[in-house]
Amino acid sequence: PVNMKGKSLLTVEQLTPEEFEYLLDLADDLKAKKRTGIKGNLLEGKNIALIFEKASTRTRCAFVVACYDEGAHPEYLGKSDIQLSKKETVKDTARVLGRMFDGIEFRGFKQQTVEELAKYSGVPVWNGLTDYSHPTQVLADFMTIREKFGKKLKGRKLVFIGDGRNNMANSLMMGCAIMGMTFVNCSPKELLPSGEIIEEAKELALKNGGKIEFIVDPKEAVRNADVIYTDVWVSMGEEDQMQKRVALLKPYKVTMDLISATGNEDVIFMHCLPAFHNEDTEVSSNNPEICEVDEDVFESKHSVVFDEAENRMHTIKAVMVATL
Ligand code: CP
Ligand code: NVA
Repeated sequence: PVNMKGKSLLTVEQLTPEEFEYLLDLADDLKAKKRTGIKGNLLEGKNIALIFEKASTRTRCAFVVACYDEGAHPEYLGKSDIQLSKKETVKDTARVLGRMFDGIEFRGFKQQTVEELAKYSGVPVWNGLTDYSHPTQVLADFMTIREKFGKKLKGRKLVFIGDGRNNMANSLMMGCAIMGMTFVNCSPKELLPSGEIIEEAKELALKNGGKIEFIVDPKEAVRNADVIYTDVWVSMGEEDQMQKRVALLKPYKVTMDLISATGNEDVIFMHCLPAFHNEDTEVSSNNPEICEVDEDVFESKHSVVFDEAENRMHTIKAVMVATL
């Protein structure tokens, strides 16, 4: 039996296959319960701190709604609201928040910060995205894959195309390795993950019957894919890299041609969002070459991006319920 009480969620690779499946099953149950309109009380009386050094729509809202649905009280602590990193260390902040809150979510830059919060707060800490990892996103993504293809994840092929060393590339690679899936990293050689991260993923894959591949050519990479996954070419905090990335990643844009190259009519298109897929945001206006996915793919029948977004809430709720 799986028991995650008191545990933190700091990376994907800390999860065992059993814990992974347990969280997905719990999320399915919580989603079904919400659909029936039953008000929950699984987190009644809990106070939850939400620390955000970076912007967020989905993660923030998922935590807040999940808290209210199950009777907890969330407190949003934005970058400029608290003393953290200006007048107070992570270690001291952790010890203060741990005296008041039952759980802490952290989104920010360094993986080390979320690790330190967990080490010193004495309460469960959940990684809401760092430069290295985005574990709650992978849970939502795998929940979505199960909804589309059935509960057996083993053997499914997920191709990540784009910036092959960002938080999503790392996290999906680890997730696929744990669940015995085939993961293909399709990116230019300049954007491969570090040798250390690849080693760890390969070890996990070997243990759990998964496969990790690196293929530079997009059309070759996507053959027989069940899932094509992409993410922005420039992650939060590296905005100055935009021109360089566009030059490198232009051939890696997800187009309808690429969807066809899978040879799989049922292939699904996934993206953690936010996505650049047309020209109408402040950043991408008059700059269509920064778009990592074409509009007709984003809006196609293959696209499950808003299912993923909804499932952020159900999986984050499951993480809080399981660990509190
Ligand atoms: N996918 C995701 O983490 O979205 P937000 O940045 O809006 O939280
Ligand atoms: N790689 C992106 C993911 C956003 C959810 C970023 O870190 O900005």
